[in-house]
Amino acid sequence: MHPMLTIAVKAARRAGSIINRASLDIDLLTIKHKNNNDYVSEVDDAAEQAIIEILLDAYPNHAILAEESGHQGDSEYQWIIDPLDGTTNFLHGFQQYAVSIALLHKGVLSQAVIYDPSRNDLFTASKGKGAYLNDRRIRVSKRSFIKDALIGTGFPYRDFDHLDTYMAMLRDMLQKTSGVRRPGSAALDLAYTAAGRLDGFWEIGLKPWDIAAGCLLVQEAGGLVGDFQGNESYIESGNIVAGNPKVFAQLLQILAPHLTENLK
Ligand code: IPD
Ligand code: CA
Ligand code: CA
Ligand code: CA
Repeated sequence: MHPMLTIAVKAARRAGSIINRASLDIDLLTIKHKNNNDYVSEVDDAAEQAIIEILLDAYPNHAILAEESGHQGDSEYQWIIDPLDGTTNFLHGFQQYAVSIALLHKGVLSQAVIYDPSRNDLFTASKGKGAYLNDRRIRVSKRSFIKDALIGTGFPYRDFDHLDTYMAMLRDMLQKTSGVRRPGSAALDLAYTAAGRLDGFWEIGLKPWDIAAGCLLVQEAGGLVGDFQGNESYIESGNIVAGNPKVFAQLLQILAPHLTENLK
């Protein structure tokens, strides 16, 4: 395993144990309301601090972009951290949430970890070296036809600007696929796409920390990731489509008629 991935795994597992311990007593947690339906708890903050401490202890000069504490440092190496992806699920004891850590080197994704602490599932990828679930190599599904495909998504919940567009997309997806799931952690949705449990995924307006690690996992598992036109701007725009190559192409076709100017 690449030494930087080893450190990221250590950080993800440490955060996972903080999350697991807190999950035993969710009612005791202090919860802050950011806005709309957007919550953050002391666990998000504690997990993030533990991750940053481990990463900077190993690599003091690296830069950080983390959901709860923002940017720090300036380096050709930048860690992108979501300490708890799926906070709403976590706060309800609905066990679908994960820690997500990715490393960008000179702007290119090079290492990725997504750790599901409630199942002790560790998804990892290094650029050019494939994607793994625990010690097993994973690959995207082989399903060719969208009518047989199971597709993951996330509902808009904090910003409702694109709600009508999203509902039109969803309506189309429900009619053209074998099913749509909204599990509540974009990081795990992408990890499941990499593992072939989902055949594809789309969502509007995600943040870099929701998707950076998951994108490398999907690519290293043989899948494709793009924005709604199949291009590269998905980390910045957060408008993302992913899937096995055949399903990816068909997802883009379904989304195309729904693209308003600001989603292109
Ligand atoms: C959220 C989850 C969810 C997605 C949201 C994200 P958070 O992240 O990834 O699946 O639909 O858009 O914000 O806030 O729980 O880390
Ligand atoms: Ca959040
Ligand atoms: Ca997130
Ligand atoms: Ca989060």
